[in-house]
Amino acid sequence: MIASANLSSWLPQAASTQATGVDAAFYGVYVAGAFAVILVTGLAVTFVRQFRQRRGDEQGAPGGRAHPLLQGLWVLSAVAIAVFAFAAGLPGFLDANAAPWLAYRVQVGASHEGFRFTYPNGHVADTLHVATGRPVRLDATTADVVHSLLVPALRVNEPILPGRTAQAWFTATSPGTYDLRSGTWGGDTYQDLRTAVVAHAPADFDAWMTRVSDIFAGRTMEQAGELLYGTKGCRACHSLDGSKLVGPSFKNLYGHEFDTREGVRITADAAYIRTSILTPNVSVVAGFEPVMTPYEGKITDKEIEAITAWLRTLSDKGGAPAGADSTGAAPAADAMQVSQAGEASQAAEASPAAQAAAAHATAQEGK
Ligand code: HEC
Repeated sequence: MIASANLSSWLPQAASTQATGVDAAFYGVYVAGAFAVILVTGLAVTFVRQFRQRRGDEQGAPGGRAHPLLQGLWVLSAVAIAVFAFAAGLPGFLDANAAPWLAYRVQVGASHEGFRFTYPNGHVADTLHVATGRPVRLDATTADVVHSLLVPALRVNEPILPGRTAQAWFTATSPGTYDLRSGTWGGDTYQDLRTAVVAHAPADFDAWMTRVSDIFAGRTMEQAGELLYGTKGCRACHSLDGSKLVGPSFKNLYGHEFDTREGVRITADAAYIRTSILTPNVSVVAGFEPVMTPYEGKITDKEIEAITAWLRTLSDKGGAPAGADSTGAAPAADAMQVSQAGEASQAAEASPAAQAAAAHATAQEGK
């Protein structure tokens, strides 16, 4: 029964160097377990039949002591299985816990919004891209509850506990797209924490990285600004629909007046927005706490310009031309032409369909 089964089809096709150790231990324990089940069930059935065949007055458990040799053998074989499982698993376990020193380091952030991967050059994506043959080390943290990093094909399974940095590493062996998800139930609202690992041949990976890490390539300033809203973490505190989160909404922010805690009336122009991003606690909007992270040193001038350009498209005082249609879901390509031609753009107009299209285009590009 066991011999005829195709062992390799029990775990997904292995795609990392780790798989050898993990699979050997897994199948070893699996076979030992199956053997024990068959042995115990077989003996139980045999004994039941033997006892049933005796005459009535002979029924019941046999008296006397158990056979010492058989008893010893039984204990020894159980211990042997445990020792074997330990010995078979140990090398893989030690290996999985010691990432090579020069591994390519990717920071992983897990939250109910999904996984975010930050590459050494600062590029942020929601899928994990790696090169085959290069060890990749993941340093994972969670922003809320317990999650885990589960990549069956790469034999990676690491819990991510709040307040700690979980570490995992692997070396992908064959190019392909592999399922990555949180294998931990984190509550009803955290169901679909799922994305993918895309393993490229090394040259393809380098080309991909060059292409995606320049956020301005193939994007208008407004589109780059919208992208930065997600990748720089603004989304966590600023809504786009006018609702108040930790910070004020980005809707109708640009060009509007508001009061600061200090009682000063300010117009949110480009210069003010720049200061608000770099040193937000210098003047704090009335009704809010000074909790925004100062972005000084974490954002470039061009990125601030892009965010500002995008914020203008979200405001009725953004200076958009009278003809700008805030309800139309302009196809991404059209939007790009419009904004390349003129000052203002419809690219990131707050219509959900246009946003979805833009997000989709971004995701496609990331592939
Ligand atoms: C940790 C939450 C948090 C994050 C992340 C955050 N902000 Fe803020 N932001 C706030 C809060 C709170 C305020 C209001 C208090 C203040 O003025 O400092 C604010 C204020 C602002 C203002 C001024 C708003 C106004 O009405 O005058 C701007 C502009 C702004 N943030 C831009 C950004 C941008 C751009 C990013 C991302 C690069 C960002 N914020 C990330 C919390 C955050």
